[in-house]
Amino acid sequence: MDKQLSTSRIEKDLENLKAFTATPGNGCTRMPFTKETRDAAEYLKQVMREAGLEVHEDSVGNVLGILPGKDREKPCILMGSHYDSVYNGGDYDGIAGIVCGIEIARILKDAGENLDCDLVIAAFMDEEGCRFGTGYFGSKSLLGQMTVEECKHFTDKDNISVYQAMTDYGLVPENIPNAAWDLDRIGRYIELHIEQGPVLDQKHIELGLVDCIVGIQRYMITVNGRSDHAGTTPMDMRLDAVDMASKVICHIADLARAEEEGTVATVGYITSVPGGMNVVAQSASFSVDIRSKKNEIINKIADEIRRLLDEETKKGGGTYEIDTKLVITPVDMSAPMLDIMEDSCKEHGYTYLRMPSGAGHDALAIGQIKDTVMIFVPSKDGRSHCPEEYTPYEDFAKAVEVLCDLVRKVD
Ligand code: GLV
Ligand code: MN
Ligand code: MN
Repeated sequence: MDKQLSTSRIEKDLENLKAFTATPGNGCTRMPFTKETRDAAEYLKQVMREAGLEVHEDSVGNVLGILPGKDREKPCILMGSHYDSVYNGGDYDGIAGIVCGIEIARILKDAGENLDCDLVIAAFMDEEGCRFGTGYFGSKSLLGQMTVEECKHFTDKDNISVYQAMTDYGLVPENIPNAAWDLDRIGRYIELHIEQGPVLDQKHIELGLVDCIVGIQRYMITVNGRSDHAGTTPMDMRLDAVDMASKVICHIADLARAEEEGTVATVGYITSVPGGMNVVAQSASFSVDIRSKKNEIINKIADEIRRLLDEETKKGGGTYEIDTKLVITPVDMSAPMLDIMEDSCKEHGYTYLRMPSGAGHDALAIGQIKDTVMIFVPSKDGRSHCPEEYTPYEDFAKAVEVLCDLVRKVD
């Protein structure tokens, strides 16, 4: 182990950050632009300051800690992850990559090792997209890919737009463009994350070297019918939105099952309006999240869902609308950086596996335009996006060690 590496510092930060949840005792619920993200951001800023980093919160709520290099004009090494969560999620998804990034900066600083370029540790706002159904808000803003118009369009379950949520949080949405970097400033991006699946844990492999990340498309679909009395309206005289929607929904998982391994499709959220036991639904809305390593497969499934919607609403006498929340293509990770990590694993005697990521990450957004790589640590029993999510702190330390080698080599 690196002399300066401290597993207990990683443990202390992750344990302290567990407090910033809206659902204490029932997992981490840290939605973007809430008191919980504010508290976590302040904690991260404090830890970054104590680590001797230059600290800055940008106009969208990304927290950035910079370890200055000898040549500040040189493109930086950007490293980090997100500090929001899903509803009742785990204590490691995202935030572990930030805490471990800070640990890497501390190791280099404590050892008096000056990198040539800046090392920037980024804590990204709203990667999950759980609140607004979108995703990668912070990293896309940094890449200059977010607009004020989009923020007005996307809303949460309470119909609060990103624009409104940002304003209530004390940010000025018109300043979103100020979060955008000159892209030449970024040399490469590196992200540490928990695997969130069972492969490493089941195979007893210590580290995952991510060679590609799946593409993702996300839609919110609303099927419109007509509300009527549930007892008096004969079955052939109603326009039942739930009936029409469910006839589409029941095919969606099978569309993914029919494709190659790694293709998934999920309806994670369903609502009906007005939502009464004895009222035929006027409308039914559901989310769709489709993922695959091959973009053409995602497009094929999305097209088939549209065809089913056409068919079922025509039969049932209704209409439908599709709100596109996210379209992002699969990316390959940097082969040279993977080779460096592989050599480092061999040197330290860590077992490793090259593997794809079925989860989305800020690395998916940044990897579209910059050399990017990810390292995974095992998730106990493969559990994630749930309160049971767990990874021993010693496992994070192994990944930190490999990333320290990587940072030194690519500098
Ligand atoms: C984030 O964890 C995602 O893959 O949706
Ligand atoms: Mn997640
Ligand atoms: Mn994550």
